[in-house]
Amino acid sequence: MDELTSKLKGFGLETVPQQPNTYPTLNPFDIYRSHITELLAQTTGLDPKIIYPTLQWTAKLDAGDLQLAVPALRQKGKDPKAYAEEIGKKFPESPLVGPPMVNGPFIGFFFKPDALTSLVIPMILTSGPSFGFNPNLGLRDPSNPKAGRKKMIVEFSSPNIAKPFHAGHLRSTIIGGFLANLYEGAGWDVTRMNYLGDWGKQYGVLAVGFDKFGSEEELLKNPIGHLYDVYVKISKISHDEGEEMKALKEQITQAKEKGEDSAELEAKLKKIQDEGVDEQARKYFKRMVDGDPEALGVWKRFRELSIEKYKKTYARLNIKYDEYSGESQVKDESMDAAAKMLEESGVSEKSEGAVIVDLTKYNAKKLGKALVKKKDGTSLYLTRDIGAAAERFEKYHFDKMIYVVASQQDLHLAQLFKIMEVMGRKDISDRCQHINFGMVLGMSTRKGTAKFLDDILEEVGDKMHEVMRKNDDKYQQIEDPVKTADTLGISAVMVQDMKGKRINNYSFDMDRMCSFEGDTGPYLQYAHARLCSIQRKARAANPDLPATTSDLLAAADFSLLKETHAHDLVRQLASWPDVFINTVKTQEPATVLTYLFKMAHALSSSYDVLQVIGSERELMVSRLALYGAALQVLGNGMRLLGLNPVERM
Ligand code: ARG
Repeated sequence: MDELTSKLKGFGLETVPQQPNTYPTLNPFDIYRSHITELLAQTTGLDPKIIYPTLQWTAKLDAGDLQLAVPALRQKGKDPKAYAEEIGKKFPESPLVGPPMVNGPFIGFFFKPDALTSLVIPMILTSGPSFGFNPNLGLRDPSNPKAGRKKMIVEFSSPNIAKPFHAGHLRSTIIGGFLANLYEGAGWDVTRMNYLGDWGKQYGVLAVGFDKFGSEEELLKNPIGHLYDVYVKISKISHDEGEEMKALKEQITQAKEKGEDSAELEAKLKKIQDEGVDEQARKYFKRMVDGDPEALGVWKRFRELSIEKYKKTYARLNIKYDEYSGESQVKDESMDAAAKMLEESGVSEKSEGAVIVDLTKYNAKKLGKALVKKKDGTSLYLTRDIGAAAERFEKYHFDKMIYVVASQQDLHLAQLFKIMEVMGRKDISDRCQHINFGMVLGMSTRKGTAKFLDDILEEVGDKMHEVMRKNDDKYQQIEDPVKTADTLGISAVMVQDMKGKRINNYSFDMDRMCSFEGDTGPYLQYAHARLCSIQRKARAANPDLPATTSDLLAAADFSLLKETHAHDLVRQLASWPDVFINTVKTQEPATVLTYLFKMAHALSSSYDVLQVIGSERELMVSRLALYGAALQVLGNGMRLLGLNPVERM
């Protein structure tokens, strides 16, 4: 007999309550929902299938742990309030659930504290880092695990080489990293993909610029920053040349009108046209397009050095990509094949030498007309995305692909998906989803120099260090303050980014995000560090405490956890697996953060009531188990978000 079965037997239940598609060994709420469903089915005669989905979470613990809104049962001809009364009265005694609380048409169910505690704490401590996650959700066929897992691509971050890493990339990185973890926790087979902006005439400009201003040494030292500097310098020249050409043209017209000789001016103009940066860049990029090994070699080196540097920065955020793809990697054949499909299906049309798709014809007025091939035959951002999607489908056979891109590109992605649909690749477009997000306002940092992810993290780390120094006592105790400040700073940025709904804009407020007060990253880290310190101190003072989880559980007497504070904590801990499932539905990091902050608040008001040090040994052991469970859940939630929980600070 497995552990759960014997535990429930001990409470007087013959079998483990299990409605279809529930996971009693992973999720305590599943046990309770199934149990209440069974009891209600007995007393009302209603089909369990109708009852189960009506059992919903409550907004506040004082309304119960689960709530049934009687109208949701859809029983015609019954007065909801009277029916609620009737159901409440008939509800039998149960070892798991107390007498229901009827309030109008609502019935609130409260989980009995002792049973819940002795069920949940061991479940958390034994499943450890996997508690709350559910690898069954990603199974292709839940009744046959051999059929494998569903395949997911999360494309995120996707910065442009030799350009600043802007707020849109920052948000995409943070949210995308979280989504990849989320689906992995749900048992999907996830590929993390970075789709670099690394193709187009501007890379010809960059190569020309490197010839003039580049330094091999600087390139190796700081590829991303150096290439950006080069790009800025050469762009200035190209801009100035453009202005000069405009002026020359005017002067030539004027000279001609006056009947003066314009030959010298024309020679000047021609020289710029033939030898200026733009022309050189055009020629260079043409060599790249034609596959000239030397031209491609230079560009490939820029790309590879940039990627090496990115990898280090992403590692600071706990992110590791499975594939660095990019616009340059899309094969001509894929784009040609797409162009052919578009043409043959009559979807695309010629328009003034270019090729367009008129999406207004397909019940998509808002999508307008999309350009898919320029007059000169070169590909566009959109064309490359069409080719890339087809290639990825070919390579990975994904069940779902998520593009994590700022809402400024809503139109672009909507056009992409619609074009694929109407050209006959609904098999791909149906699996694609754009996860968008709002803007970051005011992300010009203090020094005003932050253009790259590293700089941003650097500055926030400095700020964090400053905040930490203000509390000298604590500061003195930290082993490696610089490293801690760095980790806390990263948490500050990430939490600020994830705590609102994705679509909302927010302002980048360094003071607020680095504060230890309010719902911030440092506050959450503090809650985690404090739980770690409780464990450390108790063990230091009592070296004979049970060392392993199973010994601790065997020694703990959960009936000693009598206080409301302890019960409420356990009730919250029990709901983490449900919060996880709900997050898979909302795809919002805020769903997790709201939960974690609630828990952190509950914890901080518990410490005075539920002391560990100074309690009798038996009580100490039980409370240590409770706080250990809280530590596990808090850490699991933080890691899901991509944070690095600290043990001391
Ligand atoms: N590199 C693009 C930019 O910085 C973002 C790429 C988004 N992904 C895509 N498949 N289009 O704007």
